[in-house]
Amino acid sequence: KGDPRLQAISDAIRVVPHFPKQGIMFQDITTLLLDHKAFQHTIDIFVDRYRDMDISVIAGVEARGFMFGPSIALAIGAKFVPLRKPKKLPGEVIAEAYELEYGTDCLEMLVGAIPPGERVIVIDDLVATGGTLSAAIRLLERVGAEVVECACVVGLREVKGQRRLNGKPLYILVEPR
Ligand code: PRP
Repeated sequence: KGDPRLQAISDAIRVVPHFPKQGIMFQDITTLLLDHKAFQHTIDIFVDRYRDMDISVIAGVEARGFMFGPSIALAIGAKFVPLRKPKKLPGEVIAEAYELEYGTDCLEMLVGAIPPGERVIVIDDLVATGGTLSAAIRLLERVGAEVVECACVVGLREVKGQRRLNGKPLYILVEPR
């Protein structure tokens, strides 16, 4: 709040009405990626927040968590672990399913990517219901990771503290436009 960078970030996100379907106000972060200053501000804010929190893993949610996570990981000296949609990762994976509006989806992670006890930040572009982040938290906790916080560029303030996020803190930069 009061940070002028947040307004620049919000302004750089394009809202696309009725995408991918009727009634959805799609928050398009690809225009944020096109705005070098606003993109840099986004990474800087997360890096400033997490650099001294003894974080060893940034876990990014496919697909748009992959667009922010690696830059943050490199800047704070952490590793990046992709949480992928089904059947993308080779080898042994663990999987966690979650509910969508219609049907279910699933996140997978490579077994052995995160040794027990590591401190993890989960990053995604956007939180709506919190179902995706909640599945990410469950997945990470199953391998003994300590999920310190979930971080999103865009989210409704009301999602904070929701039980679906398994009691983990949620850090959001801007609200949907
Ligand atoms: C979007 C978004 C989050 C998720 C948030 O991804 O990038 O990952 O939805 O929704 P929730 O809080 O209600 O779970 P999407 O499911 O569209 O997948 P994609 O990034 O692979 O397109």
